[in-house]
Amino acid sequence: MPFGLVSAWNKRRRSKSQDQADPWVYKPVEFWQLEEDQTPQPTKRLHGSSVYTLKEMEEATCSFSDDNLLGKGGFGRVYRGTLRSGEVVAIKKMELPPFKEAEGEREFRVEVDILSRLDHPNLVSLIGYCADGKHRFLVYEYLPNGNLQDHLNGIREAKMHWPLRLKVALGAARGLAYLHSSSSVGIPIVHRDFKSTNVLLSEKFEAKISDFGLAKLMPEGQETFVTARVLGTFGYFDPEYTSTGKLTLQSDVYAFGVVLLELLTGRRAVDLNQGPMDQNLVLQVKHLLNDKKKLRKVIDPDMRRTSYTMDSIAMFANLASRCVRGESTERPSMVECIKELQLIIITNSKSLGMGMHSFKLM
Ligand SMILES: Nc1ncnc2c1ncn2[C@@H]1O[C@H](COP(=O)(O)OP(=O)(O)OP(=O)(O)O)[C@@H](O)[C@H]1O
Ligand SMILES: [Mg+2]
Repeated sequence: MPFGLVSAWNKRRRSKSQDQADPWVYKPVEFWQLEEDQTPQPTKRLHGSSVYTLKEMEEATCSFSDDNLLGKGGFGRVYRGTLRSGEVVAIKKMELPPFKEAEGEREFRVEVDILSRLDHPNLVSLIGYCADGKHRFLVYEYLPNGNLQDHLNGIREAKMHWPLRLKVALGAARGLAYLHSSSSVGIPIVHRDFKSTNVLLSEKFEAKISDFGLAKLMPEGQETFVTARVLGTFGYFDPEYTSTGKLTLQSDVYAFGVVLLELLTGRRAVDLNQGPMDQNLVLQVKHLLNDKKKLRKVIDPDMRRTSYTMDSIAMFANLASRCVRGESTERPSMVECIKELQLIIITNSKSLGMGMHSFKLM
């Protein structure tokens, strides 16, 4: 039963008196998948298998010092850390109020179980985890350039030029296409929380998708998953999913379209500082995307003018407008997005009369 981790784990947990005595006793991920009375089998896990103690997490982060703080999200704080091996990593610490702990535990297990089976240059690598008593930590490869949103409209000073934005869009598209293809683990996966803060950037600005806690497997014949509870982040929600509860791979394509719009405009997906009609990026710009004259008004004013051609901008805006269509069946697939982005990159570099690598990174 691939990935039936939560129910299988719970089933197993219920059957073990020791576990009943302490429901927080943690089983390594291999055991989450076991059916009753099965002998442990070697799993297909590629990485993410290192298990750490709380002490190791404390040592790695100088007791979670503020100097090592990288950021804070809905799950808790993320710290830069150095493991005993000398490897520099990012450590995410689960800090949830008691009423949210069960939900956090589920996300934690989904993240470990799914991410440790995936291996792609455009997905963040999970190095390991810590489940010491009630403490939960996820240990990832460290991405020195942080998240995409901070480069577009956050704390980072230098704004990204167009070829770099196209490179990030293509990398993220490849990561999502890999998730959607059944070749990754045999079953397509919907990420469900794709957004610019979950696109992390390496030293060379390779995009790496992170945060798989809300990911959902979509077995063959189940192209749609109907749920009563809609999960994700405001500004990126597929309208079809929010109105009917129907989750599809195309829900990620919608969120990808929103990130394309952030790359184009440098604006946030939701900006509460704007007037009531302009708070949602899609609603704000959707009607301008296929009009070349009006399109100029939405281009990020902080983007170097010499780095883009209007042709490539128009192609990109057109792709974004199709990704955010209301009807999920009218959106392109991630494979189609990759092909179009490759064409856009070529169009831009050819028209500017420069090789693909002529631009310095920043
Ligand atoms: N592997 C990593 N390398 C470097 N920085 C990271 C890494 N993982 C996370 N971060 C930083 O920590 C921040 C917080 O991450 P986290 O995933 O907890 O929250 P988020 O994605 O910003 O928001 P939310 O949890 O609300 O979805 C990120 O925005 C990023 O800047
Ligand atoms: Mg995140």
